[in-house]
Amino acid sequence: MCGIVGYIGTRTAYDVLVKGLHRLEYRGYDSAGVAMISPEGKLNVYKTQGKVEDLERFCDSKDTAGTIGIAHTRWATHGEPNDINAHPHMAPGGRIALVHNGTIENYGVLREALEREGRVFRSETDTEVLVQLIEYIKETSGCSTLDAVREALREVVGAYAIAVVDLDNPGTLIGARKSSPLVIGLGEEETFLASDATPIVEYTDKVVYLNDDEIAIISRSEPLKIITTDNQPSQIDIKTLRMSVSELEKGGYPHFMLKEIFEQPRTINDCVRGRIGNSGSQVTLSGVIENKDKFLNARRIVIVACGTSWHAGLIGKRLLQEIGRIPVEVEYASEFRYSNPILDERDIVIAISQSGETADTLAAIQMAKERGAFVYGVCNVVGSSIARATDSGTYIHVGPEIGVASTKAFTGQVTVLAMLALAVGSIKGTIDKQVKADVVKGLRNLPSLITKTLKLNDQIERLSATYTYAKNFLYLGRGYNFPAALEGALKLKEISYIHAEGYPAAEMKHGPIALIDRELPTVVIAPDDEMHEKIISNIQQVKARGGSVIAVITKGDETIREIADHVLEIPQVPECLSAIITSIPLQLLAYHIAIKKGCDVDMPRNLAKSVTVE
Ligand code: AGP
Repeated sequence: MCGIVGYIGTRTAYDVLVKGLHRLEYRGYDSAGVAMISPEGKLNVYKTQGKVEDLERFCDSKDTAGTIGIAHTRWATHGEPNDINAHPHMAPGGRIALVHNGTIENYGVLREALEREGRVFRSETDTEVLVQLIEYIKETSGCSTLDAVREALREVVGAYAIAVVDLDNPGTLIGARKSSPLVIGLGEEETFLASDATPIVEYTDKVVYLNDDEIAIISRSEPLKIITTDNQPSQIDIKTLRMSVSELEKGGYPHFMLKEIFEQPRTINDCVRGRIGNSGSQVTLSGVIENKDKFLNARRIVIVACGTSWHAGLIGKRLLQEIGRIPVEVEYASEFRYSNPILDERDIVIAISQSGETADTLAAIQMAKERGAFVYGVCNVVGSSIARATDSGTYIHVGPEIGVASTKAFTGQVTVLAMLALAVGSIKGTIDKQVKADVVKGLRNLPSLITKTLKLNDQIERLSATYTYAKNFLYLGRGYNFPAALEGALKLKEISYIHAEGYPAAEMKHGPIALIDRELPTVVIAPDDEMHEKIISNIQQVKARGGSVIAVITKGDETIREIADHVLEIPQVPECLSAIITSIPLQLLAYHIAIKKGCDVDMPRNLAKSVTVE
């Protein structure tokens, strides 16, 4: 997600814009820019790759005067982070500037149509298509900028929050939204526009939350007028803000980690959007389509990753083997890079990394490329080192993950790996049509299934109080949920500092069962799948030795409810996608236990969000 700020009033717009960008930097920080209309009637646009402080240095010697402007801090989705792709984007005529947060899904079609009309593009972004479309409509129909904006937005498919300034209306700021948030702040003789209220709250507590398909027209003569994209007047509903800046950056949540856990319905929707249709069972991953032969002829796949991403890789292995019928190995990148592996051009290496900056994973990629393997990335940060080092890849598009403990990135990675397996299975003809349709339907339902699962939060918050005493935890799972057990254990240990181990449930009898006693809680991931009977027996083995069991079960499973000490009920989900759902109560359990232990869940001791050193 990106950050947008707009201002019109009596202050120096630049000062308000830059301060606002700093407030929004948690939303994205790979490039930033501002556009102001100067008192002399000049549209000054300054933008640069890097953080907001880099933009400030860039603007040090520039003309930043003016009392109206827009600004943007970017989280790249289309086009690498660089100066050209940074926002604001200015139309070729040099009179309209625009900033955008969201994804225009039909930008390719629109761009081709505009290029056929002779228009030349400078960037790779979907946003430039929008500002060029606005200028094109204005030039060809002679309408006002506002009408051109309105007409352009009616042609757009996807999500947007935009702010627009233009020299033909130097006293007017335009904002509009669809599926991406936009807030208007009403001050004394000044009006603010922003992606959320954090840049606004220090100036005014009077805000208006724009609704989908609404356009805000903010001018010196009339502080606020709202119409719809079909040109109907809209109600102005003024709210009063009651949150601190810090709380606002976290979306009202006490911690980024909890915010990111609760973002997962949206982030998974963003992850699959444009890749699976609203109906049917088509999966479209451009990285796979462009490298079809590689996947068709690969001898094997080696997945390299670290930490949570390695857990996602274990699930990816099962998905690719079961659906794509291709041999898969999963390696810790830190081990792989020193293992002198048997690897050549017949192999594919898949590198999984949220940050795209993990040193061990990057080193593993370099080695794989030296041995001729085709390297495919599954990353979150667009334009990151790993994304740039791989031959191709698929971004997970879950937005910036600030909390050190990875949550939404994990579910995004597994979701992309499921789509990758479906795409490979389709290419190789190894997937049954009905199976594919069922899994694609399961992917489409994930956001609503996650929403249902998040309703466990209060129960888990209460349950967590029972276990803050524990010095050790055991997490057990089978099949797709053995990696989910490893991930649940990692979540707990990295933020609560309680030692936790994940194990394949059937492995207990080969030693770990000696650990079981009343002091050792065991979390068992036991959805109603093919291993259900087996996992019941594993639970009984733990109970028989006096252990307490928290079981993650499919809603309505009375058998396990009878034998476990506590049950956390999740909705039915296709087995191969189940870890995406079962991991969520474990994220919440770790979070609430850590909070009750007084730990700093967003910045746990000894850890960093991205391990860029060996
Ligand atoms: C997970 O909660 C940890 N923050 C850590 O294990 C992390 O997954 C690992 O460092 C890999 O990071 P990456 O995905 O950015 O490469």
